[in-house]
Amino acid sequence: MKKIKILFVCLGNICRSPMAEFVMRHLVEQNLLSDYIDVDSAGTSGWHDGENMHRSSYQMLKQHGIDCKNFVSKRLPENALQNYDYVAVMDDSNLSDVYQCLGYDSQRIFKLTDFCEDFDFVPDPWYTGNFFQTYHIINECCLNWIRKLKQDLGS
Ligand code: 4NP
Repeated sequence: MKKIKILFVCLGNICRSPMAEFVMRHLVEQNLLSDYIDVDSAGTSGWHDGENMHRSSYQMLKQHGIDCKNFVSKRLPENALQNYDYVAVMDDSNLSDVYQCLGYDSQRIFKLTDFCEDFDFVPDPWYTGNFFQTYHIINECCLNWIRKLKQDLGS
């Protein structure tokens, strides 16, 4: 069976989308779905290409027992829709940047917060400093998404 490929996207690919990548991968592993779902992340800007994730994102993941080795920040590739099934972004600004880069596709490109009722976007801790809040929103959205994916996969 072909794997479902998920790409998380934010602006810098050092704070939010790496957090989402490792939270989701952790959930995929916990739910024994590694044979069915692949997870990756990228940034629209490319400003931090080649860097590790933000220290506070790393610490937030560590505190929650989530392994996050071998991360390298990278820019969103223009052919992403050829290699990924879903592109989940963090806010409206990411959404318009991604549409501009990849073309409009409302079925495959959407905000991660479409999977939760209480938030309309994932706040950027680069500006808010609140990595804790960002982690919890991401975690809730990913939990809801994995439930849906499990249903879709019939497992
Ligand atoms: P991210 O946060 O998009 O969640 O990775 C940012 C990281 C870096 C910058 C902005 C946002 N920056 O301006 O370098």
